[in-house]
Amino acid sequence: MLHKNISINKDGHLTFAGMDVTLLAEKYGTPLMLLDEDRIRENIRVYKAAMAEHFGADSFPLFASKALCFKGVYRIAKEEGIGMDAVSVGELYTAEAAGFDLSKAYFHGNNKTDEDIAFGVKHGVGTFVVDNEDELLALDKHLAAVNKRQKVLLRISPGIDPHTFKAVVTGSVDSKFGSPIQTGQAEAMTRLALSLDNIDLVGFHCHIGSQIFDHEPFVDAADIMLRFIAYIREKTGFTASVLNLGGGLGVRYVDSHPDIDYAEVIGEMAMVIKQRAQEIGIELPRIVLEPGRSLVADAGMTVYTVGSVKSIPGYKSYVSVDGGMPDNPRYALYESPYTVYNASRANAAADFPCSLVGRCCESGDIIQENIVIPRPVRGEYMAVAVTGAYNYSMASNYNRIPRPLILLISAGQEKVAVRRESNEDMIRNEV
Ligand code: LLP
Repeated sequence: MLHKNISINKDGHLTFAGMDVTLLAEKYGTPLMLLDEDRIRENIRVYKAAMAEHFGADSFPLFASKALCFKGVYRIAKEEGIGMDAVSVGELYTAEAAGFDLSKAYFHGNNKTDEDIAFGVKHGVGTFVVDNEDELLALDKHLAAVNKRQKVLLRISPGIDPHTFKAVVTGSVDSKFGSPIQTGQAEAMTRLALSLDNIDLVGFHCHIGSQIFDHEPFVDAADIMLRFIAYIREKTGFTASVLNLGGGLGVRYVDSHPDIDYAEVIGEMAMVIKQRAQEIGIELPRIVLEPGRSLVADAGMTVYTVGSVKSIPGYKSYVSVDGGMPDNPRYALYESPYTVYNASRANAAADFPCSLVGRCCESGDIIQENIVIPRPVRGEYMAVAVTGAYNYSMASNYNRIPRPLILLISAGQEKVAVRRESNEDMIRNEV
């Protein structure tokens, strides 16, 4: 199977996290998002242990909560003792509502409004990751007004192209994120930060992209960042104590993707990074990573009910389900591959080429094209695997379709973590 939390039981039904997917669908309705809590915890522990082992005890992961945001996931992050990265007040607010200590939060974003800055400072966000000089000045001004100081990392563009899909490349020079080294803007922003009274500059951040399978681009980025740290030390006397290398490690969505051993990749990364630091002649700063996808993607599965199966002679067959781009926009946006199962007859011969499509009034509402599955009939359940990251967090109410219910599964027990959105929920703010 694609991941070890997916299997088939004696009734030929798909199981996820040890539970019969069809029974859960019957009990809770569809579309249904299943989340394997034990898998999230395991993924976190792998990162935590590997980072402590290879980078030192003060090195740790932050959960990039843009990948999956609801209160339950912050409770897990809190219990597992990791930090988190937020890009909005909404994410910070959700984390705080779950009891997450915001001193362990890193506040990102390329456009923090004055209100965002005020919220972050007031609610004790541990570290601001400042994107540009405008933001730096606005933050300093606010800090002066409230008579506070703030720990800051500066977001730097290392100028790396990690060969992933274009929409998720973020570390190149021509990017809306960060300040490039190549143009001198990174140095200028650093000098500005050092000159401001209320800013405690502690280090630098970069994030090169997402869904990257190889450790090489991370090592290349780290090399550039370490050289930048050495250069800044020489020019200004400032020594960075933190280097945040962002997130981005890939996840296996389909059989043809590699099954990454994250501990091994972190080990390989660390070996080269430590060696480079030595060659460059700087002490290794505290290394922070910000995984999102690789902590939660394989802990998710979305279950739908089949409504119709339509074969167009000479063309193709469409299997329509009761969800689609509102709960999973990733095929429409990135043509992302997914593995699809007929959860009701997972053992039957896969002999039916088709496309799995949603219920929206839009031709691009496709969950996956050109799949081959056991021919489904109306009322059977379809399951899409590895939907834990960037599905629920990117979900919308397009066509006024309510967002799915989320079930957290742990040790063979399920509990509702997010109730199904209702029609009343969707008109709540309308006057
Ligand atoms: N840190 C920063 C600053 C980021 O911008 C991101 C992702 C991460 C960490 C986490 O990266 P991850 O480990 O999840 O790859 N919506 C797209 C992905 C956008 C990623 C944006 N930034 C998708 O569905 O593939």
